[in-house]
Amino acid sequence: MSHNSPHIIMEGSVEYRLGVLNGLQMVYDFDNILVYLKAKGKLMFGVSFEIYDEDREILFKLCNYIIKDEVNCKKMGIDIHKGILLSGPVGCGKTSLMRLLKYIVPHQRPYVVVPCRNIVFGFNHIGYKTIEDYGMTQFFCFDDLGVEPLGRHYGKDCSVMGEIMLSRYELFLQHGILTHATTNLNAEELEDRYGKRVRSRMRELFNLIAFDKASTDKRK
Ligand SMILES: Nc1ncnc2c1ncn2[C@@H]1O[C@H](COP(=O)(O)OP(=O)(O)OP(=O)(O)O)[C@@H](O)[C@H]1O
Ligand SMILES: [Mg+2]
Repeated sequence: MSHNSPHIIMEGSVEYRLGVLNGLQMVYDFDNILVYLKAKGKLMFGVSFEIYDEDREILFKLCNYIIKDEVNCKKMGIDIHKGILLSGPVGCGKTSLMRLLKYIVPHQRPYVVVPCRNIVFGFNHIGYKTIEDYGMTQFFCFDDLGVEPLGRHYGKDCSVMGEIMLSRYELFLQHGILTHATTNLNAEELEDRYGKRVRSRMRELFNLIAFDKASTDKRK
């Protein structure tokens, strides 16, 4: 990636042009982005990775969000200053997409994808320091939010991800630090899991982008 041409991405010896630079303005082309996502997806997840027609609408939202196209995002009710909560049924491709998406924008500050289960396991070993570790300014995508076990350290139970969400909300308010997440749960189930306080903050922290309930399970 050259410094002033982040829209031209090299994978091995192949060059992908995701758009054109029009003076100072970057104009991305959605179809070109999909060509790149498919190629990068095959490199990361295997040759069976495809761009499904049924996912185009979700992909359009996610791509416009990640390239910060304010006009398109506004039309779709997406606030580019918030994070993304990507919800959908088991196996529809949430984790894969969140891992892929950041490669479209190599010039932007990356987010780290972390499974919520691992965070809780970390908490069980080392305790509250784990919660502090995620209260840092790093951008994260918390993978599989809502189905992680409850944390337990020295006989004390803790809603680890609930606490982390409260910290991430403060970071968002004070410094505009972004948090993303994937989940199988709907809003009501998330509230049942984390309570009203956390749920209310999550509404401000995230744009909700949801796969259709009928989306196919891509695990075969
Ligand atoms: N677009 C795709 N084309 C082909 N295979 C895919 C695609 N997206 C995901 N897969 C494969 O399908 C499986 C499930 O994908 P992934 O883990 O991203 O789903 P998920 O929505 O995060 O599932 P879960 O809800 O269980 O966390 C993986 O093996 C992944 O490699
Ligand atoms: Mg997943």
